[in-house]
Amino acid sequence: MPLKPSRVKLPKVIGHRGAAEAAPENTLASFREAKRQGAGWVEFDAKLSADNRCFLLHDDDLDRTSNGRGPARLKTWDELKSLDAGAWKGPQFVGEKLPLLSQCLELFQELDLAFNLELKPCPGRGEETVRLVLDEVKALWPASRPRPLISSFEIPCLEVSRDRHPDLPRGLLLETHPADWADLARRLAVETVNIWDRDANADWCREIKAAGFGLLVYTVNDAARAKTLIQWGVDGVFTDAPGRILESIG
Ligand code: G3P
Ligand code: MG
Repeated sequence: MPLKPSRVKLPKVIGHRGAAEAAPENTLASFREAKRQGAGWVEFDAKLSADNRCFLLHDDDLDRTSNGRGPARLKTWDELKSLDAGAWKGPQFVGEKLPLLSQCLELFQELDLAFNLELKPCPGRGEETVRLVLDEVKALWPASRPRPLISSFEIPCLEVSRDRHPDLPRGLLLETHPADWADLARRLAVETVNIWDRDANADWCREIKAAGFGLLVYTVNDAARAKTLIQWGVDGVFTDAPGRILESIG
């Protein structure tokens, strides 16, 4: 019988990929910047290299956010670690690297940051990504720290997560408004439903809260919109600009 996951104390603001407006997303510099702007939580995207190292990258390919080329799933960590993941964002970030998950977990302890880890596997690598990433989190993240929220758009990833580490709280990421969202959320035993701002409206937000789930909305960079969402009962928003949103919602 799986353990019932305990409630996560959700923050109003989660730094999306760190503080992706001001710093190169999913890098240590981005997490430092999120902390500097006052965030207590950050979100990031985790996947596996060809030789099974857990590291951070949003896209399947390296091109947009590094000086690498092509699919990340074909590269070993030795190849990935030499890439520059900061120069594309500005000259002040030249030399910033793709981080390992282990480096992030160390930094979060140093900075006293809590986190939402989004499982973002390379194509075809869902199951081993969940196993290796979550085993690493369990091994390296002290039980005394606030428990992380584990989320994914991929249902099979949430199933493996639920079955392998039932005690790690999960979030169901949705990019549409499916009619059976509540059944899905119950079957996956998630604590939160994380919806796209485009689909958020007062009725659906009320429904999600009334069904007993935490509710997070991505990605909200407009301060007035964040206020409206919070009024609708949203627990928290993912934002590229945590400082600006914190300032407006207090
Ligand atoms: O977890 C919230 C958000 O990060 C989901 O979308 O594409 O930015 O990973 P994406
Ligand atoms: Mg993400």
